[in-house]
Amino acid sequence: MNDERLDLSVPIAWESAEEQAAAIAFFNAAFRAEESGLRQAHEIAHDVEHWDPELAEALRLYGDEEGWHRELLTGFIAYLGGRIKPMGPTTRTFYSLYARAKKHETIVLTNLMFETIGATTYRLALRTATPRPAIRQMLTILTRDESFHVPLNVHFLRRILARAASEEGRAPAARRDLRRLYHLLTASLMASAAASRRRAKRFDHIPFATLARAYAEHLGRLFIHADDLGFTPSRALLATVGLRRRDLADEADVLSIAAAERSADRSRVVVESL
Ligand SMILES: [Fe+2]
Ligand SMILES: [Fe+2]
Repeated sequence: MNDERLDLSVPIAWESAEEQAAAIAFFNAAFRAEESGLRQAHEIAHDVEHWDPELAEALRLYGDEEGWHRELLTGFIAYLGGRIKPMGPTTRTFYSLYARAKKHETIVLTNLMFETIGATTYRLALRTATPRPAIRQMLTILTRDESFHVPLNVHFLRRILARAASEEGRAPAARRDLRRLYHLLTASLMASAAASRRRAKRFDHIPFATLARAYAEHLGRLFIHADDLGFTPSRALLATVGLRRRDLADEADVLSIAAAERSADRSRVVVESL
């Protein structure tokens, strides 16, 4: 994708200064996610090198792709008339907890859930933000690539758990901890939609209820075809946004090898808004 360029030739006519500030905040949040994904992927790559060089290589390439997104976003935020800003308190808390995580499976699951809410937000924004070609192009690139990162991270997670089982005999404890983290993160990410609404809603026009529900739905749906991982969305949490488990059931498996293969060839991926 190195040859792919953003077309930033047409300046944006903003509806208001508030809309512009909100757009800059929106893409700053994306920038932080890319930066963190890049760093963590390369750290894990370094650690797994000695037991699986191919997995290490895949992690490195994946981190590089996040690095490419970060580069695109750096130019894009300047084009919007903004700059990379220090993180707000909510974001900082998230990332400092995440940066402290040591176990690989914890990092990979967290990352996977971040990827999922990122892609969900971008797809909603494709429909709700005031249409402009450059913004559309940026959101489309991010959505397209994150849809490949989701099955890829599940592959990482399975490999790392298999290793935990065979080498260290700590798989049952690892799985229990992961299930707890899955529930905690789902609830926290749904709550984080409130903080992001304060900063970015003037740009993306996504109401809190829509965003929180979309997060619950997509995080819940993620593992519906992955029984081996044992992540079952909480009925109580789904009920807070008016969803039932059976509402999540009848969707194609986003984690399958077939899904990964479909989204690996970026020139053939069709990105749809939500
Ligand atoms: Fe990315
Ligand atoms: Fe990603």
